[in-house]
Amino acid sequence: MEEVPGKTDRESHGVICGTKRPVLLFIFLPAMERRCVSLLIMCGIVGYIGYRKAADVLLDGLYRLEYRGYDSAGVAIRDLREIQIEKEVGKVAELDNLLKSRNFEGTQGIGHTRWATHGGVTAVNAHPHCDSQSNVALVHNGIIENYLEIKEDLEKEGVTFNTQTDTEVVAQLLAKIYQGDAVSSLIRLSGFLEGSYALVILVREIEDKIYCIRKGSPLVLGKGKKESFCASDVPALLPYTKDFIYLNDGEIAELSQDNIQIWDSSGQVLTRSSFHVDWDVSMSDKDGYPHFMLKEINEQSRVIRDSLLERLQDDSVDLSAELKWSHEDIHKWKKIHIVACGTSYYAALIAERLFENVTECDIRVDVASEYRYRKLKSGPDTLAIFVSQSGETADTLAAERKARTSGACCLAVTNVPNSTLAREVDHVLLLKAGPEVGVAATKTFTGQLCVLYLLALYLGRVCETLSKNKENRLVQELRILPFKVDSILEDHLLIRELAEKYANARNFLFLGRGNSFPVALEGALKLKEISYLHAEAYAAGEMKHGPIALLDPEVPVVVVIPRDELYDKVLSNIQEARARSAPIIAVATSGDQYIGTNAEDIMWIPVTEQEMNPFLAVIPLQLFAYYVARYRGCDIDQPRNLAKSVTVE
Ligand code: M6R
Repeated sequence: MEEVPGKTDRESHGVICGTKRPVLLFIFLPAMERRCVSLLIMCGIVGYIGYRKAADVLLDGLYRLEYRGYDSAGVAIRDLREIQIEKEVGKVAELDNLLKSRNFEGTQGIGHTRWATHGGVTAVNAHPHCDSQSNVALVHNGIIENYLEIKEDLEKEGVTFNTQTDTEVVAQLLAKIYQGDAVSSLIRLSGFLEGSYALVILVREIEDKIYCIRKGSPLVLGKGKKESFCASDVPALLPYTKDFIYLNDGEIAELSQDNIQIWDSSGQVLTRSSFHVDWDVSMSDKDGYPHFMLKEINEQSRVIRDSLLERLQDDSVDLSAELKWSHEDIHKWKKIHIVACGTSYYAALIAERLFENVTECDIRVDVASEYRYRKLKSGPDTLAIFVSQSGETADTLAAERKARTSGACCLAVTNVPNSTLAREVDHVLLLKAGPEVGVAATKTFTGQLCVLYLLALYLGRVCETLSKNKENRLVQELRILPFKVDSILEDHLLIRELAEKYANARNFLFLGRGNSFPVALEGALKLKEISYLHAEAYAAGEMKHGPIALLDPEVPVVVVIPRDELYDKVLSNIQEARARSAPIIAVATSGDQYIGTNAEDIMWIPVTEQEMNPFLAVIPLQLFAYYVARYRGCDIDQPRNLAKSVTVE
């Protein structure tokens, strides 16, 4: 990955569009044969047309979308016939400062916050981008895979480029194609573009409209009274509207003050009803916490409570209101595939153990980036579950499409209603986490675990492979988990002290067995992503097969060792690590009398059923990662090189 270079001069990037008439040329672009190296971008985009000052709405939206990208930002605002573009390297706050001196009055515009791993992070490369004649200005989320071929062809036509981006190529191409009708021009444009894109566009000569088109990258439209919006994600628009429409792949939208009009990829007008989101705007604010991550860690007891609402009947799980499955459907599934990425994958790995205990199905859990390319035998006898906080992760979507083609029944477990994943699958189970803004997933991990557990228990009950007694016991424990979660959170100062003690270590090893192994994986991931420390996680029994060579007094070993059937085995693994003088930090169950003599430091969790240990053991690890990152002065909510939704492969 490239390091983000320093800021460039501000002077060069204030651009005024609108000084010339549109160019209405038609060109023939030859077949594009070569593929370019991907320019990997995940960004946040927002568009507004209405009666408010567009700069204010755009900045507000960009702040709320900053989790998607934060190396540079920009806006294009229409003031009368002119389109003013301002861009700045750095976070949205830098752009905010710049715009204070501009005082734009315009009431329509587009904005962008960028995240790039390739290509210079400069103001010039920041969005919005224009064509040479300044007839179109656009913002883009995604990658145009064949941009080099298009660029070469346009250069042969005499077009000169100002930036290294794929997005400027789109702007130049659209200006060439445009012949007075935006919708048909966008349909033509999409025929040339390979890759993924959500584009929001201002056309200089169309003074009262904003255009959108998408393929592969998310875009949501919002309608208010005398105003229309679009954005990469719902939280950007929550202060203004709760009624949204998702744009599907290939569709085009025209936003005006009074209306949103949508066309399909062949130019047919579509009628689309909106959906209502009951998220509160305060859910996407920090609510007094210094970071979203800390706020979201503290929301986890609420997430568990909400996840259980309307899904329990007495001490049984009942998902029949959400999953319209017949007994016949359920009985035909012999295989369950669970597919996800990152933290969602670790939640799936934990749930795998419950599924294999309470159902008789053959369970397989895989990361989506592998699953999508494997020769797996799925079909009508398979329930394929896709777990994704955002519902927009490109690999997970590709895996889901593959499973769907095989005839498997596809179920999404997602936090975002109407996300691409939610719309594509046969069935959906929603998390009740509310918007998660911190790049490091915390409360959605807990929400995913909760929903997957409920599903496993429900299938176990319907298939009669789960005893009534066990179901009741686990459901009762789920009901009291929120209190136990809160009791760990109350101890956060102890975890903060521990974090201070270990914040200067360079390498950590995380160990666990059984359902604590994925918890160790998640603990290590949290530490890596927000504190930039090297942390490896292993199944504790695997340590002697290699990682033990890493151990010395400088390498703390975090061992997840709750009271469960594998406790003694893990205690032996601790001895192996201690024999190499590695300091041990244990996550252990209150009342454990042996751990005190076997670990330097202990993070305690309350007693629970062994299936439920992961819900509790993950909390101290989240807090530990959070405080280590704080002591190290890291950017916790927006860690370097990461973005919240990974919408490209
Ligand atoms: O939105 P998704 O759940 O599909 O995202 C999957 C991963 O990208 C995500 O969990 C990532 O690993 C987080 N940054 C972890 O904190």
